[in-house]
Amino acid sequence: MSLFEDRVSILEYFHQHGLLVSPDALNYILDRSMGPMIHRLVSDDISDAGYIDEKTVKSILRGQMKQESQDFEVYLPDIKVNSSVEDFRQMFVSRYRKLSKIISASGTMRGTQDIRNARKAGGEIKVVGMVSDISTTRNGHKRVVIEDLEDSIQAILMKSKGLADELILQDEVIGIVGNVSNGTGDPVIFANEIVRPDIPYKVIDDQKKPPVYVGSISDIHVGSKTFREAEFKSMINWLKRSEGEAADLKHLILSGDVVDGIGVYPGQEEDLEILNPLEQYEKLGEYLAEVPEDINVFVMPGNHDSVRLAEPQPAFPEKIRNAFNRNVTLLPNPYTLTLEKKRVLLYHGMSLNDMVELVPGANYESIGKAVEEILRRRHLAPKYGGKTPLIPSPNDYHVIEEVPDIFITGHIHSHYIGNYRGVRYVNSSTWQSQTDYQKMMNFSPNPSIMTVFDLNSQTSVMKKFARD
Ligand SMILES: [Fe+2]
Repeated sequence: MSLFEDRVSILEYFHQHGLLVSPDALNYILDRSMGPMIHRLVSDDISDAGYIDEKTVKSILRGQMKQESQDFEVYLPDIKVNSSVEDFRQMFVSRYRKLSKIISASGTMRGTQDIRNARKAGGEIKVVGMVSDISTTRNGHKRVVIEDLEDSIQAILMKSKGLADELILQDEVIGIVGNVSNGTGDPVIFANEIVRPDIPYKVIDDQKKPPVYVGSISDIHVGSKTFREAEFKSMINWLKRSEGEAADLKHLILSGDVVDGIGVYPGQEEDLEILNPLEQYEKLGEYLAEVPEDINVFVMPGNHDSVRLAEPQPAFPEKIRNAFNRNVTLLPNPYTLTLEKKRVLLYHGMSLNDMVELVPGANYESIGKAVEEILRRRHLAPKYGGKTPLIPSPNDYHVIEEVPDIFITGHIHSHYIGNYRGVRYVNSSTWQSQTDYQKMMNFSPNPSIMTVFDLNSQTSVMKKFARD
């Protein structure tokens, strides 16, 4: 988790440094999720002026973001870093196309129309669109506006049909079955049903094959004073055993924040055992060199790692690659890995910060509800512009195009295993003890657990490690 994601904490930080910040500058920082970078604004030049305006923020932080992106632009060839309006438009078009295809393919949506045609039609219609506005009517019904590539239409989700409490997120793509009324004024759909891309129920096939285990760990935070080195080492020692699950464990996944990094939040230096990020990766490389050679290790970045913050994040660059042995494979974030013909979707999980606020009943200790709402929407960061910085691309990499067998996230430092319509998922545990920030937020992590999935059956096991 990172700091400075809300108005108050950002204002307090500047106040502590004797700086005033203009409302425009503050909005600029919040809109672009630049909170974690604001310490870069507290330089001597600015402190002398005592005032931060939007222009200053743009020139310093945007320059910084660009630099970070250009250094490590190795993800996939078609990701552009210049974030023009056109780039954003293309990303939303990509999202709409992929998700509307999935939604229209469901039986319920047979006979889907363009919004333009639906506006003129009478009686029952079926449309698919991206949510561009959500409000509540005076009578307590929900009103949403959806858009496709040409037109938009409003829909009323009535209380009497039990739809007013339906969780609708800004920018998600939904199907609506309803009756259109285009008597006088703007046409309105009275919705009968909301259709999500969702995960189709699947028959679980237990292949009765010998087990092949994949271990999932996350948020190692090597380099931090709160990294639980003894427990991590005892986990590595367990991997060397030739009994129990360890004997059949063939893959190990580290889903981001593998080191603590530096400059991730103000004053982080105080919390670090190793100050140089490259040395942090070298230290991790030393531990992983102990992992038996026949285990494939997969490492992806998170928000603490030395690649750009905005997603999709590229795999680590060459100089970090050199810190690892050959059985380590570096991956981007997000990524779908195919292991033993099973699809394992990996995502560090920054959008869980947004989802936890948007999904009623979700919280950091019980993140399952938030994970399931992501799966229902077939998108890893359904709401654009929250705490999840995204690089616009003509291909929206956050759409969950193929249904995964296993869905792995981290980032939260909690631990949660669930199953949604046959998709086994885990929010993987951390290897860092409670930090001062978490203490302040009254959050207790659930550290030092490896989740072990059998790729050939529905079994999963939790292994909690203590120091040897
Ligand atoms: Fe994280």
